[in-house]
Amino acid sequence: MTTVGVIGLGYVGLPLAVAFAQEGCEVIGVDIDPRKVEAIRAGESYVEDVPSATFAELGERLHASTRYGELARADAVLICVPTPLSRNREPDLGPLIDSTRALAEVLRSDQLVVLESTTYPGTTRERVAPLLEESGLAAGRDFHLAFSPERVDPGRTDFTLRTTPKIVGGLTNACAERAEALYGLVCDHVVRVSSPEAAELTKLLENIFRSVNIALVNELAMLTDRMDIDIWEVVDAAATKPYGFMRFEPGPGMGGHCLPVDPFYLSWRAREFDMATEFIELAGKVNQQMPYHCVAKAQRALNDRGLAVKGARVAVVGVSYKPGVGDVRESPALKIISLLRELGAEVLYHDPHVPVLGEFALESTPLEQAVADADLALIVTAHPGVDHELIARRARLVLDLRGVTRRASTANVVRL
Ligand SMILES: NC(=O)c1ccc[n+]([C@@H]2O[C@H](COP(=O)([O-])OP(=O)(O)OC[C@H]3O[C@@H](n4cnc5c(N)ncnc54)[C@H](O)[C@@H]3O)[C@@H](O)[C@H]2O)c1
Repeated sequence: MTTVGVIGLGYVGLPLAVAFAQEGCEVIGVDIDPRKVEAIRAGESYVEDVPSATFAELGERLHASTRYGELARADAVLICVPTPLSRNREPDLGPLIDSTRALAEVLRSDQLVVLESTTYPGTTRERVAPLLEESGLAAGRDFHLAFSPERVDPGRTDFTLRTTPKIVGGLTNACAERAEALYGLVCDHVVRVSSPEAAELTKLLENIFRSVNIALVNELAMLTDRMDIDIWEVVDAAATKPYGFMRFEPGPGMGGHCLPVDPFYLSWRAREFDMATEFIELAGKVNQQMPYHCVAKAQRALNDRGLAVKGARVAVVGVSYKPGVGDVRESPALKIISLLRELGAEVLYHDPHVPVLGEFALESTPLEQAVADADLALIVTAHPGVDHELIARRARLVLDLRGVTRRASTANVVRL
């Protein structure tokens, strides 16, 4: 039986740990957050894609701990810790360095180590390998090392870990072979690339592609606002082209742990090569502008009805960064709420996935009450199951940033 260690039991690590345990592996999950470890031990999931009932089914096969020592008996260890940006928007490899150092202390020969965290090309070879080699073992000779980016899309059900091809780049051929065999247990299709650097850049290309295309359609949305053209109609029409066009939706900006963060790992690294990655910077700039544009649009919509933002009650509908999840990291809704508050609005919110917004001392208000009480209902994130048509029918004024009220063309609805 294969024993798999997973370091970092968050949105990425926990589903991965569960997938290996479901395939019959013994899984040792390590996290420095004792609350996560206790939750897993108590059979309570904190990640939407992992139902709590799964833990009971897995029984002893999934074991969570705060102690790295237990990883010594793993055949493979997967590192899934955060890779955020520092305050001055540079890669913060702190959690990665800490976890790699701690792993080095218990590393033993013949183990396979795979980095899954998104990062710039060169991290696995130049940062992870030397730290692991402080164990006295040599990467590629005494232990195997690879990079395999995580492609999980929280809340998505049409593609799973099993059906989404997994990229693998090893330090040596033997490293890649070991990683390929391991992921073959949980993925139908493993795609091998020639190096960890190619695998690291593949993940960044995927995220930058999304960021740039979202920025493009967002910039057009700001233009169509001035031109009085409906951006949704234009996107729908363009999407009828069967080739050479891919649909991206405008919206209030980018959120989550990935798109607002990962591209800057590459632009930082590019500077070492005397390159300014202008697409990345420009996309970041346009997307960061969107919450301001949306608040200005809210201000105009209220103004058209003789109302000021100051003193207006605004019900924000959907505050997580994407539909179907409760993750509020980098969510544009948070920026929108602070901007509205700065202008003197009284903000309430409804989100079935986010019961409390601690930083604003707010609790989710039931939808009908939120809509009835508000001068403006602002649809920021369109969760499935939320009745947006009801909002369009009942609210005095609606600003829809997601194009979900298109069927209700009533005079009280304004769209991005
Ligand atoms: N969330 C996503 O949708 C997604 C998708 C693809 C890739 N990624 C990438 O995967 C990585 C992890 O992201 P995430 O969303 O799972 O983050 P997360 O914050 O949900 O989970 C990371 C976990 O690592 C733990 N941790 C931090 N330092 C540690 C240490 N030294 N030792 C052990 N555990 C430690 C944290 O307590 C946390 O539980 C990031 O690089 C991210 O960019 C995320």
